[in-house]
Amino acid sequence: MGALCKNLIIFMFVNSINAEITNDRYYPRYHLAPPQGWMNDPNGFSVFQQEYHVFYQYNPDSALEAGTAHWGHAKSRDLLNWQHLPIAMYPNETYDSSGVFSGSALIEDDTMYLYYTAHTNHPGETPNHEEHQALAISTDGVNVVKYQNNPLIEGADRQPDFRDPKVWKHGDTYYMVLGNQFTKNDTRLGRVLLYSSKDKYNWSEVAIIGESDGSLGYMWECPDFFQLDGHFILLMSPQGIPAEGDKYKNLHQTGYIVGDFDYRTLTFKPTTSFQELDHGHDVYATQTILDNKGRRLVLAWFDMWETNYPEQLDGFTGQITIPRILTLSKDFRLVQRPVPEIRAARTNIVYTGQASGGTVATLENKAGEINIRASALYDLEFFIEGINASVQIYYNASSGQISLDRGGDDGLRRTEWQPANVLILNIYVDASSIEVFCGAGEVTLSSRYFPDGPVSVRLGDSSEASQFRVINMRSTVPIN
Ligand code: FRU
Repeated sequence: MGALCKNLIIFMFVNSINAEITNDRYYPRYHLAPPQGWMNDPNGFSVFQQEYHVFYQYNPDSALEAGTAHWGHAKSRDLLNWQHLPIAMYPNETYDSSGVFSGSALIEDDTMYLYYTAHTNHPGETPNHEEHQALAISTDGVNVVKYQNNPLIEGADRQPDFRDPKVWKHGDTYYMVLGNQFTKNDTRLGRVLLYSSKDKYNWSEVAIIGESDGSLGYMWECPDFFQLDGHFILLMSPQGIPAEGDKYKNLHQTGYIVGDFDYRTLTFKPTTSFQELDHGHDVYATQTILDNKGRRLVLAWFDMWETNYPEQLDGFTGQITIPRILTLSKDFRLVQRPVPEIRAARTNIVYTGQASGGTVATLENKAGEINIRASALYDLEFFIEGINASVQIYYNASSGQISLDRGGDDGLRRTEWQPANVLILNIYVDASSIEVFCGAGEVTLSSRYFPDGPVSVRLGDSSEASQFRVINMRSTVPIN
């Protein structure tokens, strides 16, 4: 076979893998995932004309790499049934030719203002890229037009890592937080900058909300800053925090600092140190909104950089976590509860009762919800098992720790959890994911796993009998 012909066949094969979903074995049944291709961060999360919109970092050409970021787009009335919409933004301007990077939405007067980072690479130069903030507008929630005087914010003295605008309005002023890297004593450190504007178009830097002292990494991505239950939360995704025991074991982290913010002096006074939002393997690049029911909702990219999960071979990569409601506990921890809308995916109850060791139930279509309740605090070990992949969940009463182990070298994630006097666990299983909500949601562990064949729930032999309810979940997500 001639080299050209061979290359053509390889090209067609690779292309056909990536152009469409070839196998739905790992495609989520009720989580938002791309119609095909690569997805990373959720962007522009908003409510527009009574519908939720989620944009996302998107490479329509390949599931194997992030490529040059576009903005994919989907909308939903209920955060459960999603409709894919045409690609909202392409990297087709000189100022964003290497990527339409992450950003957020501001909704005003029936108009969507989409603020994003315009990324350009300069191979072989130092620095080898630059980032500026840009604006795009939609009046119909589908067609997005880039602002003619982009970029909006040059940030000449904030280059080259200066990205991920999150915008909101307070009083008569617009605010934006941005992730940035600076150098101090030759060390690269992450921080969050605050900008403000009176008209949505002209912005100036007004404060630094927080910065790494070296212990919190070299770059803070996807910052978010919002009021919750009387305090302020700085939520962000730092890169470069070294692992410390059970903490910070993922490649990059997502976490938050709780404090108080004064809009007159623009100062943020932290009350807590940095705490991880989730304790599983795969929560990154979060974005929150206040929805029109007054709920602070959070979404995350349910994946992690540099993981090469096997779904890539089926023509898609990445998904978004179940939308979660955030509240703040009295001891300043973010509590996460799945939005109740998710319950509409429930179909039949497969098991309800006191399970005492052995297989409790088998999920239809690999997707289900598991509710566990034990009236005393004792060790509890159970497994979510498919062919080739399984997850062990273990509450260790004597150490007061909950763990999730998906197997392999880096399978274990563990954290402290002090339940009240009842052990409550709500677990959401999808075709390639598990989200564990402990108690009222004060601890969560969210990880991807890739089971083949039927998926069963099994209680460990040494566990005491516990109240189990297992419910099948139907497929709500269209593949195309
Ligand atoms: C986070 C991130 C952002 C950036 C985007 C590029 O995952 O690195 O900082 O805007 O992804 O796709």
